[in-house]
Amino acid sequence: MSHRLFLRSLLTVLAILISAGPGSGRAMAAEAWPKVASPYGIDPKTEARIDALLARMTLAEKVGQITMAEIHSISPNDVKRFHIGGLLNGGGSWPNKNRKATIPEWLVMANAFHDASIDPRGKRTAIPVIWGTDAVHGHNNVIGATLFPHNIGLGAMRNPGLMRDIGIATAREVSVTGIGWAFAPTVAVARDDRWGRTYESYSEDPALVADYAREIVVGLQGHPALDDAFGVGRVIATAKHFVGDGGTLKGDDQGDTVLDEAKLKALHAAGHVTAIGAGAQTVMATFNSWNGVKTHGNKYLLTDVLKDRLGFDGFVIGDWDGHAQVPGCLKVSCPAAVNAGVDMIMVPIDWREFIRNTSIQVKKGEISQARLDDAVRRILRVKIRAGLLERGRPSQQPLAGKTQLLGHPDHRALARQAVRESLVLLKNNGILPLAPGKKILVAGHAADSIPHQTGGWTITWQGRDNTNADFPGATSVFAGIRDAVAAAGGTAILSEAGNYDASPAASPDAAIVVFGETPYAEFEGDLESERGLDLDDERALEILKRLKAANIPTIAVFLSGRPRWVTPEIDAADAFIAAWLPGSEGAGIADVIFSDPAGKIRHGFSGKLSFSWPASPVGPPPNIGDPDYAPLFPFGFGLTYGKGG
Ligand code: BGC
Ligand code: BGC
Repeated sequence: MSHRLFLRSLLTVLAILISAGPGSGRAMAAEAWPKVASPYGIDPKTEARIDALLARMTLAEKVGQITMAEIHSISPNDVKRFHIGGLLNGGGSWPNKNRKATIPEWLVMANAFHDASIDPRGKRTAIPVIWGTDAVHGHNNVIGATLFPHNIGLGAMRNPGLMRDIGIATAREVSVTGIGWAFAPTVAVARDDRWGRTYESYSEDPALVADYAREIVVGLQGHPALDDAFGVGRVIATAKHFVGDGGTLKGDDQGDTVLDEAKLKALHAAGHVTAIGAGAQTVMATFNSWNGVKTHGNKYLLTDVLKDRLGFDGFVIGDWDGHAQVPGCLKVSCPAAVNAGVDMIMVPIDWREFIRNTSIQVKKGEISQARLDDAVRRILRVKIRAGLLERGRPSQQPLAGKTQLLGHPDHRALARQAVRESLVLLKNNGILPLAPGKKILVAGHAADSIPHQTGGWTITWQGRDNTNADFPGATSVFAGIRDAVAAAGGTAILSEAGNYDASPAASPDAAIVVFGETPYAEFEGDLESERGLDLDDERALEILKRLKAANIPTIAVFLSGRPRWVTPEIDAADAFIAAWLPGSEGAGIADVIFSDPAGKIRHGFSGKLSFSWPASPVGPPPNIGDPDYAPLFPFGFGLTYGKGG
C-alpha cells in the first residue's frame, strides 16, 4: 500500500470511529429530531394490497423492483426480464439520444418501458415501472419547456406561494412526456458558495428552504387535504439530498460534512422535514459523508432518523452510483446501502450485475428478507398512492401528448414573474429605472445568450453545448430589452464587445452590460478553494470602465449561480443587478429595469439576497449567523426604487 493510500485508509477508519453514529456516545438520540406526520398516513387497504403482492413476488421480482437503471443502458425487454422497478433519464439524456426528441418520442419510450414492466409473459406479478427525471427548474431536459429561475433566484424572490404554482406548472410539463416522477426539489442549504450546486439551493438559511420545500412539494404532488393528491398533471416529488449536501468542507461536491448532530439537523434537515410533512413520497440519499461516513451506508441517518423518527413512509432512492462510495461497496454490489435503508438503488449502467449480486446477498442472508420486503413495500406503497397501478399507459394520462402545455404561455408568464421577483438590486446611483424611449446599448457576453441564463441542468447535464436555437419560445435578456425599448419608440443595439457609434447623434444614452458565469453543474462547477469566488473574467469590467470614461451610464446585470466577488464591477457600474440564472424568460429583467414611457414604474425591485454576498475573493464565503459576519451585502439585502434605490 502506498504511503498516501495508507494514510487515507487510516483517516477513514479514524473518522468512522469518531463519527457520531449510533452507539458512538456522541450521537444525539434520534428522538431529538422532530416527529413529522405524513398527510397520507398508512392505509390498511393499501398495506393489505401490498401484502398480497409481496406474497406473490419472487426473489428476482423483488430485487428487480429495488433497482433503477438509466434509459440508455436498458431495453424494454430487459425491464421485463429483470422486473425492473425504476428508470431514470440522467441529465442530458433523451429518447433515442436525440436532444430534439419530440413529445411523441418521449411517449413511445415511456410506453415501451411501461408495457414491458406489466407484460404478463414470464412474469408472475405486474407492477408498472416508474420513471424519474431531474425536473429541477422546469422540465429541463426537454426542448421547448418553460425554464424557471434556478433555486437560488427563487430564494431571492421570497415568495413561497409562487413556489406552489411553479410546482404545478412543472408537474404539468413533466406529465406531457408521460413521466410521473421529478427528482425535485433540492432542499440543500448551501453554506459554501464554492460548491457547484449552490444555485440548486434556495438559500443559506434553513428557514427559507423549509418554507419553499413545503410549497413546491404540494405543487408537484398535490395534497390530500386539498383533494388533489396525484390528480391530473401531478407527479411524485423527491426531497434531495438527505442530508448535509450543502455543508461539505470547502463546498466540495460529494465531500464531507463535518458537524455535530444538532447542527446537521438545524442547518441541513429543515427542508426535508417540511417536504416530508407535505407528503413528499421519495427522498434521495446524498453523496456526501457526515463526519467521514458516507450517507448511503449510514443506517442511523437513513433508517433511525429519516424513517423511524421523521416518519418518512415513502421510499429512499439512492443517488447515481452513490452506494459505490460506501467503503467495501462497488457499483455492482452494496448490501451495506440496502441494509442502511436505501430502498431503490440508482445503479444507472451496471444494474444487471447489481441484481445478480444482490440476489445472492439475500440468499446468503447478507441482506435480510425482511429488509428487502420493507424496501419493496415502500416502493409499492408509493406506486399505489400515486395511482400507478391503475393509471394505464403513459400516453393515456390526461396531459400526455398535450404538446401545447410545454412552454405554455401561462407557465412562461409565471416564470417571467419569478424572474422579476428574483432580481436583487445591489446598487443604484439613480440611473434606474430607465426610460425606454432612448438609445440603449446592450453589451456583455451573456446579453443575448439563453444558455447563460439557463445554466446547468438544462437540456444537457452541465448546460454546455447549448445555443439560443435550443430554446424555442424563450427570450434572451437582450430580446426582452429590445422589445421594451422598441415599444416605446427607442432603439436597443446589441454589441457583445460594447462597441458603439460615438457620433453625437448615435451615441447611446445608457448601456446595459450583461455578464456572468459560464454554465456548469454538479462536480464540475466547484471552485478551487484557493481561487475562491473571484470571477476571473475581466471582459465586463473592461467594457464598464470604457463606457464610464465616455460618460455613458451603465447598468450591470450579473447572471450567476451564486454570489461571486465582483467588487470591481460593482464599483465601475452605476447600477448593479444580481439576476441569478433566470431561465427561459429573460424579458422579466426589462420589465423591472424600464419604466413605462411616461416614467411610471411598471415593476419595482423586490428581491432580497437569500445568500450573503462576499466582501473578499478568497476564504470561506460568509453566512448569516457567522460569529465574524462581514459580507459586502448581508443576507436579506436588496434595494428598491422607493428606498435608497
Ligand atoms: C445528482 C442528483 C440527480 C441524479 C440523476 C446525480 O448526480 O446528484 O441530484 O437527481 O444525478 O441525474
Ligand atoms: C448524468 C447525470 C448524473 C451524472 C452523475 C451524468 O452522466 O447525465 O444525470 O447526475 O452523470 O455523475
